[in-house]
Amino acid sequence: MNGPESEESQLRRAVCPGSFDPITNGHLDIIARASRLYDTVYVAVMINQSKQGLFSVEERISLIQEVTAEFGNVQVEAFHGLLVDFCKQRDIPAIVKGLRAVSDFDYELQMAQMNIGLSGVETLFVPTNPTYSFLSSSLVKEVAQWGGDISHLVPPAILAALNDRLGQR
Ligand code: PNS
Repeated sequence: MNGPESEESQLRRAVCPGSFDPITNGHLDIIARASRLYDTVYVAVMINQSKQGLFSVEERISLIQEVTAEFGNVQVEAFHGLLVDFCKQRDIPAIVKGLRAVSDFDYELQMAQMNIGLSGVETLFVPTNPTYSFLSSSLVKEVAQWGGDISHLVPPAILAALNDRLGQR
């Protein structure tokens, strides 16, 4: 095949999906590593209407854009629906996920098998940097809420946003 369309389809794209309420250094490490392996990395903020977030989807997107700007090949979008549909609409063949521990594996494997069965989209697992293997957005929020130091667990912009939001309560 010739022409711009075929060149476009040969570009390597991947997606890092999640709730990102808020993004942590653990997420950022996976996105940074994916951005070195792929031409374009989409960060998909998956909307879950049954979960009330600390940050709105728009706020999460803007924070993720701020902390991933330096990578130069990361595109941040929100999506309401199945992750495989997000992938299909953008011609993304691969999902990149971090695995923190064996306890993550069961559910991640189920999702990966469901997703490949639904659409043929592959899931690639990246071992989380051990520095962040205990880290989750929920824990960060809980510790921050009680005044614990989380400055080594989130980027400065996220720390400021958390302090701002929790200070308003
Ligand atoms: O950060 P999270 O909440 O652990 O991320 C989970 C997420 C959003 C990646 C997962 O729940 C997901 O892919 N949701 C989108 C809806 C979907 O495709 N569900 C079927 C998964 S097999």
